[in-house]
Amino acid sequence: LRTKYLSRIVDASDEAALEDVRLAAIGKKGEVALAMRELGRMTPERRQTEGPRLNALKDEITSAIAARRAAFEDAALEERLRSEWLDVTLPGRRRGTAPGSVHPVSQVWEEATAIFADMGFGVAEGPQVESDWYNFDALNIPDHHPARGEMDTFYMHRADGDARPPHVLRTHTSPVQIHAMQQQGAPLRIICPGRVYRADYDQTHTPMFHQVEGLALDRHISMANLKWVLEEFFTAYFCTRVKTRFRASHFPFTEPSAEVDIQCRWDGGTVKVGEGDDWLEVLGSGMVHPSVLTAGGIDPDAWQGFAFGMGIDRIAMLKYGIPDLRAFFDSDLRWLRHYGFAP
Ligand code: PHE
Repeated sequence: LRTKYLSRIVDASDEAALEDVRLAAIGKKGEVALAMRELGRMTPERRQTEGPRLNALKDEITSAIAARRAAFEDAALEERLRSEWLDVTLPGRRRGTAPGSVHPVSQVWEEATAIFADMGFGVAEGPQVESDWYNFDALNIPDHHPARGEMDTFYMHRADGDARPPHVLRTHTSPVQIHAMQQQGAPLRIICPGRVYRADYDQTHTPMFHQVEGLALDRHISMANLKWVLEEFFTAYFCTRVKTRFRASHFPFTEPSAEVDIQCRWDGGTVKVGEGDDWLEVLGSGMVHPSVLTAGGIDPDAWQGFAFGMGIDRIAMLKYGIPDLRAFFDSDLRWLRHYGFAP
C-alpha cells in the first residue's frame, strides 16, 4: 500500500491527478480508510501494531501529497516569473501627442487679469448664454434699438409656444457689469474676462472671441481715473510706456463714451506699440450710464464710475505680431510652434 501510493503521488502529473490519488488512498472510501475500518475486527494485539502503522501511513501519504502540491505551486510560480517578466530598464515609449502648453489667448487672459489685480480689480464672471435683458435692455439698449441689429447676435432657438424670455449668446462682456452690480453693489472694482459671440468671420473677426470688461464704481470716479488705469495697463502689458488717445464715441451704456487708441508705429505690415505717431483702436469705454446703474440696483445719485471693454484676442495679436485672428482657433500645432506657443 505504501509503495503503491507514494509512487503514484510522485507520478501524478498535475493537481487533478494528485487529487485522484488522494481520494483513492485516504479519501473516505480510500484504501487506507477501508483498512482502518478493518481494525475493529482485529485482536487487540494486532490492532495495537496495525493501528499506529495505518495512522503513520496516512500521515506519510498526507505529507507526500502536500509536498507534491507545493512542488506544483513552485513550478507554476516559476512559469509565471518566466513568462511575465518585465524589463524595467527599457527606455520609456513616447506618447503620441506632444506635451500641452498654454494657449496664447489664455496667456494674455491670465496676464491681463494679473495686471488689473495689481491695480485692485477683482474678477467677475457671468453666463455665456444670457437673457436679452442682461445683454441688451439692462445696458440701455431697448428693443428695436439699432445697436441690437449691429451686434450680429446669435439667438437661442425657442420652440413654438415657449414663452420664456429670449436668450442670446452674449455679444459682449458688458452684461457681467449688471450681474456684478446686483451681486456686489457699490463700491466696485472688477474686470470680467470671457468668451463672447457674434456672427462675423474675416481676418480680424471670428464668431467666438474674447473680451475683458472693466468696471469701477465709487463716489468720485472720473474719466481721468479711466485714462490712468488704461495707460498703466498697456504699459505693463506691452512692457513699454504706451500713450492712449480718447476719441469721442457713442455706446448706449456709457455717457460720455470714448473709443481708446494706443500709440504705435505702422511699418509695412508690422505694428510696434508704444512708439511712432500712428494710433490703433483697442477698446470702447465711458462713464457708466445712469440707467445702467439703476438696472444693476445701484443709486445713480450716489455712485458713478467708468467701464471699458477690450478685445483679448486683439491685444494678443498686437503683442505677438499675429496678422490673422482665425489662426488662434485652428488648433494647428505648426502655427502654435511657429509663434513659440508650443514646444
Ligand atoms: N461692450 C462694448 C463692445 O462690445 C465695449 C464697451 C464696454 C464700451 C464698456 C463701453 C463700455 O464693443
